[in-house]
Amino acid sequence: MNDSAMRDFIDKFNGFYGVAPTAAAQAPGRLEVLGNHTDYNEGRVLSCAVEQTTRFALKTVPGRKCRLKDFRSGSQYEFSVDDIDRRPPRDGSKYVLGMIKELVKRGAAGIGGFDAAVESSVPLSAGMSSSAALEIAAGYAMGEAFGIKLEKVEWAKAGQGVENGFLGLHTGLLDQFSSVFGRRGSMILSDFRTNEVVRTVQVPDGYVIVVINSMKKHNLVDSEYNTRRADCESAARTMAAAIPGVRALRDVSTVQLEAAKSSMDRNPYLRALHVVGECERVTKAVECLEANDIAAFGKLLFESHESSRVNFENSTPELDYLVELAKSVPGCVGARLSGGGFGGISIHLVKADMADECQKRVAAAYEMRSGVVPRSTVCSIGDGASVWR
Ligand code: GLA
Repeated sequence: MNDSAMRDFIDKFNGFYGVAPTAAAQAPGRLEVLGNHTDYNEGRVLSCAVEQTTRFALKTVPGRKCRLKDFRSGSQYEFSVDDIDRRPPRDGSKYVLGMIKELVKRGAAGIGGFDAAVESSVPLSAGMSSSAALEIAAGYAMGEAFGIKLEKVEWAKAGQGVENGFLGLHTGLLDQFSSVFGRRGSMILSDFRTNEVVRTVQVPDGYVIVVINSMKKHNLVDSEYNTRRADCESAARTMAAAIPGVRALRDVSTVQLEAAKSSMDRNPYLRALHVVGECERVTKAVECLEANDIAAFGKLLFESHESSRVNFENSTPELDYLVELAKSVPGCVGARLSGGGFGGISIHLVKADMADECQKRVAAAYEMRSGVVPRSTVCSIGDGASVWR
């Protein structure tokens, strides 16, 4: 944990409420490096926690009322612990309220009123999971303040439950899991059948991951996400009926899928083709990185993007352009959209000493074409969530 940033945040809390917090925690955003939409298909994903993090602190108060101050936006929200059975609010407090609901579901009886504050450097709506970071940071701080003890994976599932149950977004476990289990300096290879970190994987020596925010996002992201998931599940049912032992798309090979193509509708087939390809690419990627074959790893990133574009149809013209640019920028060996898609960010694997130049070139070309200045940064891989003590 970045102690001095946490101390500054706690000082701010003190300045705002005039009292020290009972508990505080931080949880990072995440980057999906490879393995797009494989998590809810029980597949594997290469991801990492990022340095950009969300800090959450609270002071317990008598009664049921809660106040939440967001230092980034300046907004302030009020709600009651008992609002968990009402419609979710439309602001950031929905993640905190949703977390309370998930904790109550898991038997937490003692959650009462509190004064809380949040501060975050995770970009909003960009594909770096600012909502998961808030869910986990709030969850850890409430856990500390109200004596709630859960296994680490259960914290991640509680965060996912906020999205699935409270907000109606049928996302997988990747975001919250990466925020909880991230390891400083390493990517993690996670298995979403067993919900465990299989191993850590290093970014190749001398390379960095550059993150470029296209600054564009569809406004139908949630419904598009849910239909993609439904298509994947429909494809999985078809495959399970045809092949003994198949439970999820994770169990299917591209060859098996091709053989079943004629019995499937267009969308389930194409979505499954992407997911099955991603599962295979994740396995290959780990082998390439082991063998230090960076060019082959970069190629897999480009292939992943191409499959997003034509099969999963979760790219945008802006993301396509960013990835296209990557093919001609010196020092860049691979690029793809990262996260749910339908806008947000692309990631680019770039030679470390050419990262500045790469960002400048891509930004200039992108601005010329779209009139928008993209925001880009070199990803530093941070630690998973933790409680401040
Ligand atoms: C979003 C979801 C994750 C995962 C990714 C795509 O980030 O929240 O569960 O499905 O999209 O890989």
